[in-house]
Amino acid sequence: MSEQLSKFMDEKLPLLHKHFSELFVGTNYPKVLQEAMAYSVNAGGKRIRPLLVLAVLHDLDVTSKDAVQVAGAIELIHTYSLIHDDLPCMDDDDFRRGNPTNHIVYGEATAVLAADALQTLAFEELASLQHTAPATMLAILRAVSNASGAAGMVGGQILDMQGEGKQLTLTELEEIHVHKTGALLACCIESGALLANATDAKMQNLRTFSRNIGLAFQIKDDILDVTASTEQLGKTANKDTASDKSTYPALLGLEGAQAKLADHHKQALDALEGIDLGSSLLAQIADYIIDRNA
Ligand code: IPE
Ligand code: IPE
Ligand code: MG
Ligand code: MG
Ligand code: MG
Repeated sequence: MSEQLSKFMDEKLPLLHKHFSELFVGTNYPKVLQEAMAYSVNAGGKRIRPLLVLAVLHDLDVTSKDAVQVAGAIELIHTYSLIHDDLPCMDDDDFRRGNPTNHIVYGEATAVLAADALQTLAFEELASLQHTAPATMLAILRAVSNASGAAGMVGGQILDMQGEGKQLTLTELEEIHVHKTGALLACCIESGALLANATDAKMQNLRTFSRNIGLAFQIKDDILDVTASTEQLGKTANKDTASDKSTYPALLGLEGAQAKLADHHKQALDALEGIDLGSSLLAQIADYIIDRNA
């Protein structure tokens, strides 16, 4: 990871974690529900999605007092998606972010409801921005709900489940990855750009960047599933093969998957070249996504 990105993370992640520590203050949620919600939110993770929101603003040289709240809301949606993804009826995983999964600790019913509540809390947070014009707030709400639902992450998750045990074409697999993972990552960049009032031309380039980096993120996740250890990942390794998932390494072999990863990385960086961004943190996050080993 570049020194600049590492410094940016050291500066921004404490703000995000402070925001999360204040999330339940003054609420009166049932105790076990709040505990289960906090358990997964505070378990850590790479926080790539919030960092992307904040990086767009940095790159466009704009500040927003609502940036951390928007970034945090998308991380809540991501966290809910992981709780559901790990359920026995989906990927059936016991280990996440270095800890037992939510349903292992709290039971399935509570895990389902904690995830539901994280999702609705995210939208409440997005509808409560104090420093953003109403039209921008609505545009962010539309982008995030579209990326999270049937047209985005949830739609991709069902295609992923249907793809188990099947030989898909590359186009079909790309479709799954763009939806289940790419959409939410892309909406981080879209939301940051909306907060920054980015021009249409910049938006277009950022969308090309997002599509490629979103896809690259899931290709790398597929690769790590077969190349990294459970300790490294904080989640069970070799799970995709065991579940007969359709993945890039399964379809193209490890080398073929690596080549696709490099290809999407390059296309992402090329899209950023269309924008004069100076020392781009988005480019550095793209490099990190490709080079990471967890
Ligand atoms: C895991 O996402 C699920 C995918 C979409 C591949 P991350 O790899 O971002 O998980 P955390 O947030 O770091 O735990
Ligand atoms: C999950 O993809 C994508 C989500 C929408 C959560 P995976 O099933 O590959 O994610 P991991 O490997 O369990 O983190
Ligand atoms: Mg899954
Ligand atoms: Mg999974
Ligand atoms: Mg995976």
